[in-house]
Amino acid sequence: MPGVVVVGAQWGDEGKGKATDQLGDRVDLCVRYSGGNNAGHTLVVGGETFVMHLLPSGILNPGTTTVIGNGVVVDLDVFAEELQTLVSRGVEVPHPLISANAHIITEYHKVLDKVTERFLGKRRIGTTGRGVGPAYSDKVNRMGVRIQDIFDESILRQKVEAALDQKNQLLVKVYNRRPIEADAIVEALLAHAENIRPHVIDSGRFINDALDRGEVVLFEGAQAHHLDVDHGTYPYVTSSNPIAAGACTGAGVGPTRIDRTIGIAKAYTTRVGEGPFPTELHDEDGDRLRRDGGEFGATTGRPRRCGWFDALVVEQAVKINGFTDVFLTKLDVLSGWERIPVCVAYDVDGTRHDVMPVTQSDFHHATPVYEELPGWSEDISACRDFGELPANCRAYVKRLEELIGCRISGIGVGPGREQTIIVNDLL
Ligand code: GDP
Ligand code: IMO
Ligand code: MG
Repeated sequence: MPGVVVVGAQWGDEGKGKATDQLGDRVDLCVRYSGGNNAGHTLVVGGETFVMHLLPSGILNPGTTTVIGNGVVVDLDVFAEELQTLVSRGVEVPHPLISANAHIITEYHKVLDKVTERFLGKRRIGTTGRGVGPAYSDKVNRMGVRIQDIFDESILRQKVEAALDQKNQLLVKVYNRRPIEADAIVEALLAHAENIRPHVIDSGRFINDALDRGEVVLFEGAQAHHLDVDHGTYPYVTSSNPIAAGACTGAGVGPTRIDRTIGIAKAYTTRVGEGPFPTELHDEDGDRLRRDGGEFGATTGRPRRCGWFDALVVEQAVKINGFTDVFLTKLDVLSGWERIPVCVAYDVDGTRHDVMPVTQSDFHHATPVYEELPGWSEDISACRDFGELPANCRAYVKRLEELIGCRISGIGVGPGREQTIIVNDLL
């Protein structure tokens, strides 16, 4: 079963990195297909913590080849730094590959991300400030700079100058900032050319050839369903398609090559940045979830907004992504609650909704209707088998399965690679 996609089912930080890493050396190719270094994927291996922002999470498995697909936006400084950090920590780095067609995040994208957010004030998105949105805007606007452009100085210069002709007007006249010099940008990008060259491939062909050979290719999603620019809580979203279908465009594979889509869902809900979040807790219960779950952003360090599991949010992701399996993470964090509320419907201005409402306005007005499930007091972090979990904990998992309409095939009971319960084989 070669083509497998891993997708966040909520608003990000569900534990996609850990889920990807623990699938281990059965994965031949691990491919990032969307987003950029706005992602922060945490892997805990042998007590050591690694956070991947751009490199695929399969990178710690020596038998796995990693690929940054065409759908990713690449900050070349981050690529070099992340690789260097791994090397300095003694990781045997298996030479990550990059698509020649991936777009580059330049300095002006980062500047624009920050000034735009400041300009928006109260209407800001709460972006990670990594230049991801502006880089995708340029891609769609047909004024982006691609990885392959850094191997052709005259093309690179033309593209950067054309982009800056427009952006400097915006920076100077609208945002009252200093213009950015094209020369400095071109020099900075050219400085990467020789180091990057050995990593650059035609990733579409490479990935399809691996699938033709029957190899296991894992497409690692970043961000999540509800941050998807088409399917998420627009405009409070990222600027790409993290959903499973995004693997087709962002890696260059046909839908027939995807055999399995695995949704990663936290046993409760978190969100970073702005935007609606019906089950958000503004009280001590929210603080307790944040403390017990260590819910602080892996990229920006921001405290994550915390709330109860919202079955409608995950059910929507199950439907649109066609999840064959869900991997439920951080179940261990819920130990010690007497009762655990789960959102099973919304009340929107007096009307009950059993699935997510059609319009964003209704979603903004949604009040959760909770079902309270009995909790458990035992520490479950050493459990490795579904049968070892306390009865109420198993009942919680079973009830979530019913509510979201998808089987739960993996369960996370701690951050460590081995702190996983496999209910149904994922590969
Ligand atoms: P990602 O962006 O989806 O990869 O998730 P992040 O790495 O941003 O955030 C998930 C956090 O939860 C990280 O600190 C992980 O180490 C941690 N984590 C992942 N799975 C589990 C789990 O099952 N239990 C606990 N307690 N922590 C987990
Ligand atoms: P991983 O892969 C959580 C959020 C930002 C902001 C919005 C837009 O670790 O799950 P952007 O910088 O993408 O333009 O910001 O999306 N966001 C994430 N939230 N986890 C992520 O990645 C995120 N990547 C972006 O907080 O609300
Ligand atoms: Mg994260």
